[in-house]
Amino acid sequence: MKKALAIAALFTLAPISSALAGSDLMAQARETFKPIPSAPPALSGNVVTRERVELGKMLFFEPRLSASHLISCNTCHNVGMGGDDNLETSIGHGWAKGPRNAPTALNAVFNVAQFWDGRAEDLKAQAKGPVQAGVEMSNTPAMVEKTLNSIPEYVERFGKAFPGEKSPVSFDNMAKAIESFEATLITPASRFDQFLEGNAAAMTDQEKRGLALFMDKGCSGCHSGVNVGGQDYYPFGVVEKPGADVLPQGDKGRFAVTKTADDAYVFRAGPLRNIALTAPYFHSGKVWNLEQAVAIMGQSQLGEKLSDAQIKDITAFLETLTGEQPDVTYPILPASTAATPLPVA
Ligand code: HEM
Ligand code: HEM
Repeated sequence: MKKALAIAALFTLAPISSALAGSDLMAQARETFKPIPSAPPALSGNVVTRERVELGKMLFFEPRLSASHLISCNTCHNVGMGGDDNLETSIGHGWAKGPRNAPTALNAVFNVAQFWDGRAEDLKAQAKGPVQAGVEMSNTPAMVEKTLNSIPEYVERFGKAFPGEKSPVSFDNMAKAIESFEATLITPASRFDQFLEGNAAAMTDQEKRGLALFMDKGCSGCHSGVNVGGQDYYPFGVVEKPGADVLPQGDKGRFAVTKTADDAYVFRAGPLRNIALTAPYFHSGKVWNLEQAVAIMGQSQLGEKLSDAQIKDITAFLETLTGEQPDVTYPILPASTAATPLPVA
């Protein structure tokens, strides 16, 4: 019911004006979106320290968190490639193909909840999932703890990152450390952020037309805030369901989380930061071209066949959402010891 009202409100509120003048456009954009802050946000239930961030970075790149010792978080969320793997759906343990496209880990800290269906409350809850998922890293908490405990540098680093704890090397603390690092994976200073911060010259006329369309047509009804999305859930196909190629029948999205009929084929509105770097698109990863993704959204979410020129303008705007990519120095990982469990195929 709440969802139905929200969607009704979306359409009644969709502004009918167009061609916004420069300063009006900036004012309207500032009401709808927020710039990416230049420093990582505070996290609930986790005190972020330099020791936790450093350890979390090592763990993010640590393939020995996977059963095969081959797959790390960075395999599927490559921080040098927009924070994802640029595959239709991810490849995990034993070359298994997962069911969904990997969303970017960049700016994920600003999403209301994690995963396409929002089933993890925050990044520390999220980080425990892939380590155990059969099609991802296929490991167990006990094995991860055994592995980390077998490597003296990790034991020392966990002790410093979680001082005063009786058993600092734990699966929970692994997740907290990874969350601390992920919170640093933010991409400020995109041209759109510069525009929001008052620099009208940061965007071209075409990009501004695209921004005006994005708000006027109603895209921003679902894609707003810091991450230009990632804040709430909507049916994929509010007006017109996309074909089964783009929206496979088997994945009912949020229905699996809430078991409510209204939530069948409901997904989190995609966060659109750095969207030009993260093809292919949608949870199915079936669409490789951003213009095509924009056209599908127009049709499925707004019931509107956007013209080629409108699609190009909106896409040009979306390309201004690429921010400064995090400058991550690859961590040197400590060697295994005789006590380290061996990899399993
Ligand atoms: C989702 C981080 C390992 C594939 C996510 C999200 C985050 C994340 C933050 C949610 C992003 C969002 O909802 O916007 C991590 C971390 C990992 C890890 C910290 C290591 C512990 C992996 C691996 C793979 C993978 C190894 C590929 C084999 C995916 C996929 C999703 C996802 C397919 C979407 C799943 C869904 O929505 O059901 N990951 N990831 N991740 N990740 Fe990872
Ligand atoms: C996903 C753009 C309107 C809800 C996406 C994606 C793009 C996009 C590019 C793919 C994100 C990714 O793969 O990472 C747009 C544009 C719109 C628009 C340009 C206006 C023409 C809307 C509206 C709603 C909405 C009005 C809500 C009623 C969603 C949802 C997803 C999504 C739920 C995830 C779909 C999935 O399950 O894969 N949007 N959007 N969008 N958008 Fe929109």
